[in-house]
Amino acid sequence: MKILITGGAGYIGSHTLRQFLNTKHQICVLDNLSKGSQKALEDLSTIREFQFYKQDLSDFSKVKELLLEEKFDAVVHFAASIEVFESTQNPLKYYLNNTANTTNLIDSCIKSGVKYFIFSSTAATYGEPKSDFVSESSALEPINPYGQSKLMSEEILRAASKAHSGFKHCILRYFNVAGACMDFKIGQRYPKATLLIKVAAEVAARKRDKLFIYGDDYATKDGTCIRDFIHVDDIASAHLAALEYLQHSKSDVFNVGYGHGFSVKEVVAMMKKVSGIDFEVECALRRQGDPSVLISDASKIRKCTSWNPKYDNLELICKSAYEWEKQC
Ligand SMILES: NC(=O)c1ccc[n+]([C@@H]2O[C@H](COP(=O)([O-])OP(=O)(O)OC[C@H]3O[C@@H](n4cnc5c(N)ncnc54)[C@H](O)[C@@H]3O)[C@@H](O)[C@H]2O)c1
Repeated sequence: MKILITGGAGYIGSHTLRQFLNTKHQICVLDNLSKGSQKALEDLSTIREFQFYKQDLSDFSKVKELLLEEKFDAVVHFAASIEVFESTQNPLKYYLNNTANTTNLIDSCIKSGVKYFIFSSTAATYGEPKSDFVSESSALEPINPYGQSKLMSEEILRAASKAHSGFKHCILRYFNVAGACMDFKIGQRYPKATLLIKVAAEVAARKRDKLFIYGDDYATKDGTCIRDFIHVDDIASAHLAALEYLQHSKSDVFNVGYGHGFSVKEVVAMMKKVSGIDFEVECALRRQGDPSVLISDASKIRKCTSWNPKYDNLELICKSAYEWEKQC
């Protein structure tokens, strides 16, 4: 197949690109490099050559022209704005980049005969769930514009696939993505990261002074929030499994997580262990909108697809994040 990966220079996109380059598919990448890494693309081109389009998705006519010309079989769509707090301050950026640009991309896909569309969605579409484990049929009640912008794109995809039988989609709702590839120099590069394992790795690598724990009075075993942390290479392989699934099944949605969680304090202890650095930790007030426990019920993706996660190991996730942080 001829496959377009949008956002392929970003964190999850580059890890997924690496895995697709190890298949026989013909791969093209589109990214505006606003957050992505040219260096990651250069490094990955040593695996195998691929076409790179430095292109912003907001240029609708250029995107349509490209898709009509290249006639992709499948599109794997990562490109988006991803910062929850920023989305509360500048919501229109999120509706424009994540919803409007995605809508145009879907339209171009349908007009150019793309058969399969894989969409990066998020556990943020569930908002503050009533139960600790969320399945794909749990209520979708996002509490910030980021989650809402993704949910709107999900709904647009569902409507588009219903109206156009040749266009199938797979929505992947990721839980807490973390870590870095173990045998290649790619990883997470956000300048002001807020994700726990990335921040803990930065503190351990002496790039920040201390780590804040937001709330230690939750009704959990040690008082801190519990999350389902999943290694980025397992998220990446879910996209290959989703593409395979779509070739013989209908459009669908899957949670991508391990189905169990670790507390913030457990993650901090693990990062200290793998780094050997006893960094400073300070307890701060709870953040608004943080559910105490958020764990995927990921039984559906395991049951329906060939997805076979290989890195369900907190020590390995923290170690890979720390090793990446030391050298990036
Ligand atoms: N990181 C996570 O924990 C997480 C969790 C759930 C869902 N997701 C979703 O996964 C996807 C990838 O996230 P990531 O963590 O790799 O983010 P990232 O910022 O590293 O990657 C996004 C990439 O898209 C590119 N991009 C953004 N807007 C663009 C535009 N208008 N035109 C062209 N390129 C554009 C950026 O340059 C970047 O390379 C996003 O859709 C995000 O919502 C991420």
